[in-house]
Amino acid sequence: MRDFNLTVSDPKEEVQAQAVEAGPKAKDKEIPSVQDEEVEQTEKRHLNVVFIGHVDAGKSTTGGQILFLSGQVDDRTIQKYEKEAKDKSRESWYMAYIMDTNEEERVKGKTVEVGRAHFETETTRFTILDAPGHKSYVPNMISGASQADIGVLVISARKGEFETGYERGGQTREHVQLAKTLGVTKLLVVVNKMDDPTVNWSKERYDEIESKMIPFLKQSGYNVKKDVLFLPISGLMGSNLKTRMDRSICSWWDGPCLFEALDSIEVPMGDPKRPFRMPIIDKFKDMGTVVMGKVESGTIREGDSLFIMPNKDQVKVVAIYIDENRVKRAGPGENLRVRLSGVEEEDILTGFVLSSVANPISAVTEFVAQLAILELLDNAIFTAGYKAVLHIHSVVEECEIVELLQQIDPKTKKPMKKKVLFVKNGAVVLCRVQVSNMICVEKFSDFPQLGRFTLRTEGKTIAVGKVTAL
Ligand code: GTP
Ligand code: MG
Repeated sequence: MRDFNLTVSDPKEEVQAQAVEAGPKAKDKEIPSVQDEEVEQTEKRHLNVVFIGHVDAGKSTTGGQILFLSGQVDDRTIQKYEKEAKDKSRESWYMAYIMDTNEEERVKGKTVEVGRAHFETETTRFTILDAPGHKSYVPNMISGASQADIGVLVISARKGEFETGYERGGQTREHVQLAKTLGVTKLLVVVNKMDDPTVNWSKERYDEIESKMIPFLKQSGYNVKKDVLFLPISGLMGSNLKTRMDRSICSWWDGPCLFEALDSIEVPMGDPKRPFRMPIIDKFKDMGTVVMGKVESGTIREGDSLFIMPNKDQVKVVAIYIDENRVKRAGPGENLRVRLSGVEEEDILTGFVLSSVANPISAVTEFVAQLAILELLDNAIFTAGYKAVLHIHSVVEECEIVELLQQIDPKTKKPMKKKVLFVKNGAVVLCRVQVSNMICVEKFSDFPQLGRFTLRTEGKTIAVGKVTAL
């Protein structure tokens, strides 16, 4: 249970508290009954933004500050968090407590589950997905990033901290590579903790970080000119977030603040006319069965008949919720809670896909994929028989590479003639992948979001890939 709810006693605060929802954390599962009347979907676009980056970079602090600055958390609540943080000897963590809502997270000062919260700017409704930075929780980060349209990569400028995050094995690198594979096409790179005494808004430090990050971002597949924007901030102080930089604090920055940057990002949206697909990230019982997820393509309407794949359970859409609001229909990019009839909660698993009946998603136990091998454990070799954990949209499954088909020259992108029996780090290879349970996937070329995946072994990402044939 979330501590957030337990400590709230004042009904006024309760209303404030509702603005902040935590991801698949328990609170998200409550559908508020008071605001059950239907509202039409607002005209503003909706974007999911995932906060990524190395442990302690300041993701939760920045997320919390954004909610505070957009008026969703009142001073009294902040004071309460200040006291709670102090009692836990974590004084500076009070802003992070807005996003880190459970006791374990607050005691350790580390996000575990993806926190979820909402705020709005002039043009856009945003859902923040606050990913954990710690390497033990990369699977949770993957689930957050796979729901996101854009990413905010938080980097600590504090002396030594940028360096640890950027080292091999640091999560700055791993998160960037994962985000790119998982379909986060645009990145805002925020250089955080600029207020820290070791940085003191130094332009040299900012430039150093930017110049080291750019080649790496390029290598990871980002077009730095088109898809990436750097800006200096202090999440803790709230500088350069909602309003432009105060020149008396930092004289050299005349670029946009974070809210402006977020507002102006353009992202192509999924097609509302294509077959409906919504991977299920969580489910619970509440006057029927409720499933949660993000619409990847198509449109859902109240009263629709749909399949839950791979089982082909036919269900009826009883009600659709966006945040607290009940809506008649919803399209691509929306995070929904959908109440269904015709299925028991026990019969649904995370990774199942709510899907159109006329054109359901494919369910397979084997597929062909193009893999890019990043970093094998202890420089192992990659051959048929290799086992790993497959992460594709909301699916997490054990898999085995059953055959290597062809190696691809990373430079020319053409298949190499030689027969391939094994490959090493850095190789690109076409192979057959097998799982023991049916999973729902699509060809990358048809539905990129449902056809890109990562392979992990012993807690490390070893390869990224795309489904090329079913
Ligand atoms: P994980 O969830 O564990 O990955 O960490 P995180 O990235 O969410 O970091 P968090 O927000 O929990 O902050 C970690 C520490 O950095 C806390 O002590 C924060 O007070 C501190 N911190 C975050 N942002 C700033 C900042 O802008 N300036 C300074 N000086 N400290 C900051
Ligand atoms: Mg955090």
